[in-house]
Amino acid sequence: MTAATPATPRAATTAPGPKGVPLLGSLGSWRRNTAEFLLGLQRDYGEVVRMRLGPMTVHQVTGPEAVHQVLVKNHGNYVRGPLYEQFGVVMGKGLLTSDGEYWRGHRRAVQPAFQKNAVLGIVPNIVRATEEMLDEWDGKAARGEPVDLMTEMLRLTLVTLSRSLFAYDIKPSSRVLKQIVDDVVEVMFRRGTASEMLPSWLPTDRKRKIDRIHHVFDKVVADVRETYARTGDGSLTSLMEQAVDPVTGEPWTDQEIRDELLTIYLAGHETTAVSLCWTLLSIANHPPVQEELGGEIDRVLGGGPPDAENTDALTYTKMVVDESLRMHPPIWIFPRAAVGPDTLGGYDIEAGSSVLVSPLVSHHNPRYWDNPLAFDPYRFTPQAVRERPRMAYFPFGAGPRQCIGNSMALLELRTIVAMINQRFRISMIPGHALQYGSPVISLRPLRDVMVRLASRDRTHGRGSAGPAAVPAPAEGPAPSGCPYTGTPDA
Ligand code: HEM
Repeated sequence: MTAATPATPRAATTAPGPKGVPLLGSLGSWRRNTAEFLLGLQRDYGEVVRMRLGPMTVHQVTGPEAVHQVLVKNHGNYVRGPLYEQFGVVMGKGLLTSDGEYWRGHRRAVQPAFQKNAVLGIVPNIVRATEEMLDEWDGKAARGEPVDLMTEMLRLTLVTLSRSLFAYDIKPSSRVLKQIVDDVVEVMFRRGTASEMLPSWLPTDRKRKIDRIHHVFDKVVADVRETYARTGDGSLTSLMEQAVDPVTGEPWTDQEIRDELLTIYLAGHETTAVSLCWTLLSIANHPPVQEELGGEIDRVLGGGPPDAENTDALTYTKMVVDESLRMHPPIWIFPRAAVGPDTLGGYDIEAGSSVLVSPLVSHHNPRYWDNPLAFDPYRFTPQAVRERPRMAYFPFGAGPRQCIGNSMALLELRTIVAMINQRFRISMIPGHALQYGSPVISLRPLRDVMVRLASRDRTHGRGSAGPAAVPAPAEGPAPSGCPYTGTPDA
C-alpha cells in the first residue's frame, strides 16, 4: 500500500469582476442602475463575480449550484449581515432581521399558521376582499375612470393578510398605510444622507417619517392585540400570544410580538401586491396569454368564485404567475455575510465578505432560460420544470430561510388573478412606461401604474369562452423592451 500523497494547498482563485475606481469600487454603476449593473456582471464575468462597493467586498452569485450552496447546503455560513441592519429601524428584531437560535425559536412558533391546510382556509377571505374591490371597479369601469393599480393591489393584499392571519379588519385605514409603506421603503433604503449625521434631537424629515411609521404601526399592533383579547380570533395572533421562549420558558415580550407582527405585515403584503401588479400588466400586454387564461378561468370556475378545491385546477393561471415571478421577482436581491471561508463555483469567498444572491439575475441566465426577456408561461409546464436545475428559479428563496408565506402568496396570486380576469380586461394608459425604481425593497414600478378597465360583462359577456373573449389589444403602445436595461423586447 502506498502512502497517501499529502494534499498540496490549492492556489487561491479570485472570482473575475469589474475593477471599479479607487475607494468607491463599482458603487457608481450600482447606484446608477442596480439591476442593469448586476445583469451586466453575469453577462460579462459569469455566475460568480467579485466586486467592491465602497469598503465592502461583494460576490454576486447566480449559478444554480453556487446559489444552492449559499442558501441550502452551507447556509450556516451565510448570515443576514450588515446589509439587513437598516430593516431593523422599522421592523425591529423579527423573522426577517434575526439569526441563530432566536430566529429558529420564532420561526417554529409561527410556522403552523402557514401550513398547507391553514393556508387553504384563507380562500374565502381572499375571495371576499377581491369581490369588494371588483364591485368598486364596476363603477370605475362604467365611468371610464383610470385605476392606480399598485395602490389598489397594496390595499387588497393588506386587507386579505390582516383578516386572514389576524382576524383584524384594517380596511378603514389602508389608504393611510399605503403612504406609510412608501415611507418605510424610503427610510430603510435611503441611508448615508447628511441628515443622519445631525444630532438625533433635530427633527429631520427622515426622523419625522420614522416617528410617523412607529406611531401608525404601534396603533395597528395595539388594535390587533385588542381584537384577539376580545374575540380570541386570529390564527397568527393566537400563536404569538401563546409563544414561549424555548430556553427561559417565558412568554414573548410585548416588543417581540410587536416586531413579529410588523414583520409579517410588511413582508407579507407589499411583495404580493408588487407581483400582482406585474402579473396583471404582463397579461394585459400579451393578448394570446389573456385569451388562454380567459378560457381556463371560464372552464374551471364556470362564472362562479374560486374555492379551495378549484384553485388547484387553474394550472395555466399558475404558469402565468410563475412566469411573472421569474421575470419580476419582487425580492430581487438578498444579501448575506460569509462567517467563514468557502468556495463557490471554484472561487474563494473570504470570511467577512458579502454575498449577493439575485433571483432577478438568475432568472435571466441564458444558460437556463431561452430568450429570457420574453414572457412565456410554457416555461413552467411540469416537464420543463423537471428538466431545469431546481435553483435556476427561486422567487421565494430556498433552504431554512425560504419565505414562510410562499404558499399563501401563490394562493393569493392565483385566486386574485383569476377573479380579476374573470370580470375585467386591463389595459395600460399610454404614456405610463414601465421602469424599475432604484434599488428599493421590492421590484416596484418607478411611477404609478395607471390602467383602464373594461368590464368583460359588457364587452363579451361574463363566462363566455374561446376567441370571442379576447379583449381589444392594450390601449396605446405596449411597453416594449426590458424595464431593467431598456434593451428591446425579444
Ligand atoms: C409574492 C410574494 C412574496 C415573495 C416574492 C416573497 C419573497 C421572499 C423571499 C425571497 C424571502 C427570503 C429572503 C432571504 O432569504 O433573505 C422571504 C422571506 C420572508 N417572507 Fe416572503 N415573499 C412573499 C410573500 C410573503 C408573505 C405573504 C408573507 C407572510 C404573510 C411573507 C413573509 C416572509 C417572512 C416572515 C420572511 C422571513 C422568513 C425567515 O427568514 O424565516 N412573505 N420572502
